[in-house]
Amino acid sequence: MKISVIGAGYVGLVTALGLAYKGHEVFCIDKNKNKINNLKNGKSTIYEKGVDNLLKMCLDKDKIKFTTKIEKGVKNSEMVFIAVGTPSMEDGNVDLSQINIVLNQISKYITQYKIIINKSTVPVGTQKEVKSLLLKNGVLKENFDVISNPEFLREGKAIKDFLKPDRIVIGYDSEKARRKMETLYSDFDTEIIYTTPETAELIKYASNAFLATKISFINEIANLCNIIGADVKTISYAMGLDQRISPEFLNAGIGFGGSCFPKDIKGLLKIGEKNGYDFEIVKSVLKVNEKQRIKPVNIILEHFTSIKDRVVSVLGLTFKPDTDDTREAPSLYIMNELLKRGALIKCYDPVMKNINRIIPGIVNCNSLYQALEDSICAIICTEWREFENINLKEVKKRMKKPFIIDGRNVLNLEVVRKSKIHYHSIGRDSYTINDKGC
Ligand code: NAD
Ligand code: UGA
Repeated sequence: MKISVIGAGYVGLVTALGLAYKGHEVFCIDKNKNKINNLKNGKSTIYEKGVDNLLKMCLDKDKIKFTTKIEKGVKNSEMVFIAVGTPSMEDGNVDLSQINIVLNQISKYITQYKIIINKSTVPVGTQKEVKSLLLKNGVLKENFDVISNPEFLREGKAIKDFLKPDRIVIGYDSEKARRKMETLYSDFDTEIIYTTPETAELIKYASNAFLATKISFINEIANLCNIIGADVKTISYAMGLDQRISPEFLNAGIGFGGSCFPKDIKGLLKIGEKNGYDFEIVKSVLKVNEKQRIKPVNIILEHFTSIKDRVVSVLGLTFKPDTDDTREAPSLYIMNELLKRGALIKCYDPVMKNINRIIPGIVNCNSLYQALEDSICAIICTEWREFENINLKEVKKRMKKPFIIDGRNVLNLEVVRKSKIHYHSIGRDSYTINDKGC
């Protein structure tokens, strides 16, 4: 099939490459010239395992073309995927302006039958609004159908999630379009759920909100564990053995970040609000997360009367490992709180190296141990593999006070116990070397 994908971000690029890999002729379109030039030259624009190889393969086979010219792609395609950003507005509502701009741009090129497929995460009712806008722009009714086809990929596992998804969801209101979608996804080995556009749109929000609920739930259990001396990892493991619960998304820590969970939860709350429904659970999920992500700051403040002009190390900046993405990362909230209290921050991340573009005034170190020099406390914010094997002898040598707050529970408790460092984790044992703290 001839397909256009508009938006070459995380979702758009992976969708375009995935479909090109499956043998379709794909135009991948983005307004960002720099991005398109890099992609044309075989340079991935996202930090994502497997993208470089797939990009090279698809370019070599001439299955994918990158362009900034929307006209070129859309005129030549029978399917047009939209995968542009849908960020949160100040009040939590979803900003659909990028989608609307795309629709206004493509309307004049829809002169024969095309399926417009929405991959971006959008509020319930958007499929209908898309249809209305296209009709208002003069596109003939018989020349298009609109499908809702939400995406469930995770950063860090994007290619695998796209090519081998747990399910595919298709929201449709035209049999003709449904048949085309069946053909498109015929060689994907997974269950395909055909439903109404409204149901498809809500499946996406319900899925993200449910995963976030699991995280906030286990974080509350972890907080209780810290008070009563129980071990959250054992609890998660035991809970996860129950097939009705599943072990996934039960890792306690300093909460969820990323470009989607926080924004989509706010989006779902707004969908509820607009429809006269007050989502109590979802509201609490967000509230718990807002507290959880700055928990390390509260732990530090329990131990030091002042952190003004003292060095605090932040280990890991990205919202999770295997990505360079820091959007809504707990590390950002922690660093802002530390800066407010006058701390000097030294940070280290294996991949994200230009934090000063987001938060100025932080010392960016080239190695984990360099970031520990003269520090009174180190906070592990991301579970990068490198941190699991941290050399605690080196920690003691470098730090002014050997004090680690393990925000992702990555360190081995036995090793920590023997090392006699001051250690706090989220919902597991904590070790304080002396009664006076620091
Ligand atoms: P992104 O910001 O990485 O990419 C969006 C791209 O669209 C950008 O490259 C931008 O330049 C381009 N764009 C915007 N307007 C354009 C226009 N008029 N013409 C051409 N290009 C245009 O966003 P993303 O992370 O890929 O997310 C896209 C959507 O998918 C969002 O709704 C998001 O919620 C959803 N989603 C994201 C993920 C994820 O892991 N990132 C997973 C599932 C769903
Ligand atoms: C998430 C969903 O997992 C995807 O299915 C969805 O498509 C995507 O959002 C989206 O809509 O954009 P992603 O944000 O890439 O994917 O990352 P996750 O692996 O879900 O992690 C999100 C956050 O939750 C991270 O900060 C991570 O550290 C945290 N997390 C995750 C926990 O704190 N504990 C866990 O057990 C799992």
